[in-house]
Amino acid sequence: MAIPAKRVTVPAIRAMKGQQRIGMLTAYDYPSAKVVDSAGTEIILVGDSLGMVVLGYPDTLSVTVDDMVHHTRAAARGASHALVVGDMPYLSYHVSIEESVRNAGRFIQAGAHAVKVEGGKKRRIKTIEAILDAEIPVMGHIGLTPQSLNALGGFKVQGKGAEESRRLIDEAVALERAGCFSIVLECVPSELAAFITERVSIPTIGIGAGPSCDGQVLVFHDLLGLYDGHTPKFVRKYASLGDEMQKAISAYLTDVREGRFPNEETESFHSGTREDLDRLYGAGAVVVPIK
Ligand code: KIV
Repeated sequence: MAIPAKRVTVPAIRAMKGQQRIGMLTAYDYPSAKVVDSAGTEIILVGDSLGMVVLGYPDTLSVTVDDMVHHTRAAARGASHALVVGDMPYLSYHVSIEESVRNAGRFIQAGAHAVKVEGGKKRRIKTIEAILDAEIPVMGHIGLTPQSLNALGGFKVQGKGAEESRRLIDEAVALERAGCFSIVLECVPSELAAFITERVSIPTIGIGAGPSCDGQVLVFHDLLGLYDGHTPKFVRKYASLGDEMQKAISAYLTDVREGRFPNEETESFHSGTREDLDRLYGAGAVVVPIK
């Protein structure tokens, strides 16, 4: 597939609704963003899943704005085509509206084109409106919102039953009305995701939300088989790069131990001969190190 040279923009993502399915993938640094970007993804999310797949935490709650900004800066340098969305971490938009706007601005200054915020309750909508008022596009995220792990009581499918479905539909409509340019639907029943997708005029991006969303997102390390922690049911692994990397590293270590790396011909530098070096000091002379 030929990759369009032009940058994907927020209005372009909005216009894809009903026209073109949107491919979104996470990336957390320069090389991963470069690979994802050159494959033609429309959106790169510098997700706070960073906490688990890069920083080794059990969940996303320990990730800080500094962590996210550092990784956003690196990922943005690797993305020349995709829209880059920075994921606002836990506690970066919960304390006050002023602090939330400042934190969102840090992502833009690090090279992101938009931010993602979890939740759709009234208070969150006010915060999102303030971020939008600072000219920062916002992607919503409802359903299973991993930053609410403790309040939700675990990583569970959300929106089961009439009351829960209604709440998520109301939140999606509120995010659309507030001005979000798209909404991530995470771990919700396929039928509910299809209903929300029909109901709102902005693209829905699903993860564990069935095939009817306007786009899909996966975590880089899950898709490529680079993460050995829990893999949710909705992940499709397209490669086992973790195994491949381990094989390559074992082969290198065996070559080092058995003296096969580096070889004398193509992997070493040469100047003069052994005799030239012997002549330097006289054969058999003791070399005294220079102090
Ligand atoms: O942090 C993340 O990677 C996410 C996606 C899974 C939507 O929020």
